[in-house]
Amino acid sequence: MKKKGHGLDRLAVYRRDLAVLEGDARLRSLSGRRGIDFSSNDYIGLAQAPRMVSAMRRALEHGVPVGAAGSRLLRGETEMQARFEAEAARFFGAEACLGFGGGYVANFAVITTLPQRGDLLLMDALAHASTHEGARAGRAEVATFRHGDVGHAEDVITGWRARGGRGAVWIAVESLYSMDGDRAPLEDLMVLADAHGFLLVDEAHATGVYGPQGRGLTHHLEGRENVVTLHTLGKALGGSGALICGARVLVDFLINRCRPFIFATAPSPLMAAVGLESLAILRDEPWRQAVLAGHVAAFGAEMRRRLPQVSLSGSQIVPLIVGPNAGTMDLAAAVQARGFDVRGIRPPTVPEGTARLRVSLTLNATRAEVIRLAETLEELWPDL
Ligand SMILES: Cc1ncc(COP(=O)(O)O)c(C=O)c1O
Repeated sequence: MKKKGHGLDRLAVYRRDLAVLEGDARLRSLSGRRGIDFSSNDYIGLAQAPRMVSAMRRALEHGVPVGAAGSRLLRGETEMQARFEAEAARFFGAEACLGFGGGYVANFAVITTLPQRGDLLLMDALAHASTHEGARAGRAEVATFRHGDVGHAEDVITGWRARGGRGAVWIAVESLYSMDGDRAPLEDLMVLADAHGFLLVDEAHATGVYGPQGRGLTHHLEGRENVVTLHTLGKALGGSGALICGARVLVDFLINRCRPFIFATAPSPLMAAVGLESLAILRDEPWRQAVLAGHVAAFGAEMRRRLPQVSLSGSQIVPLIVGPNAGTMDLAAAVQARGFDVRGIRPPTVPEGTARLRVSLTLNATRAEVIRLAETLEELWPDL
């Protein structure tokens, strides 16, 4: 590319940064789908399910617009979105729900809007990037606690109160962690939240998979005034977008004060139509969760037998920690060459020295394929 003006290389800073990433085996690039799905978040196989496709067709035939064409506060408000939110609130057991274009923006939006100046946002150290980004941009003081360590969370709160912290504490966790596949200790965190403020639970990887009818791991907490949940539509629910669920007054506050909600085009009403269908499928087809649980059990049993040194998560997200970045990506490439779409995950997405294969179990693979993957991993696992 031509350089113009004062001999300045405006792009040098970007080239240098990419070169550093490359030297560290951390340069990312986009690569399309290949092989059997062991990397998507389409856990219960809804993204291409015939009922979802028909729901989309039906919506189009009935004149549901492709785009919302405006902010929700203006002409972007559609009957389909309102129906979906009302139905989702009933389904999840919340007083109210509010839709966003995606989980990242929803998390960012809530964290920058609900915690107030003088409050403390207390995040699990492994919380999603969108939570960290919201924390940086928000008004509340920010602290983290060691992953899954409620005792540490309590110590941080005690220290903050001792230093004069008077506001509410917003404890932000994922019910099922996206890169580790382990669960948050929700019961104990709820006790802390009851004493100090609110529990904000990102259900991205649990919605549709856990709880009665896939209502998530917070199904028994939803509806409390100090519980706010995020249910994403782009993972097990097979579409795209997200819902924030909580007390009516908090949803009304978001409608009035949340800039990423107010100053943005509403999500496509078509996604609301397929969202309604995905909730209906969750009600009608509990076999999907059962088959996925069977995959998790079968993969776990095979892996324990074949690679006992590798620890497992017990959920549909199975992080197989390799350690070095380059070794992880080489292993991922070798597994991919055998026809399995398994992806490597490197820092900064995961902590330094814990690069891993993130095996994602979904209904897009058969039980036989799940077992074949374990066999292949045993064969290719590097001696480190
Ligand atoms: C825990 C968690 N929260 C939020 C998101 C963002 O959701 P979305 O992909 O809908 O933007 C993700 C997905 O990457 C996630 O893993």
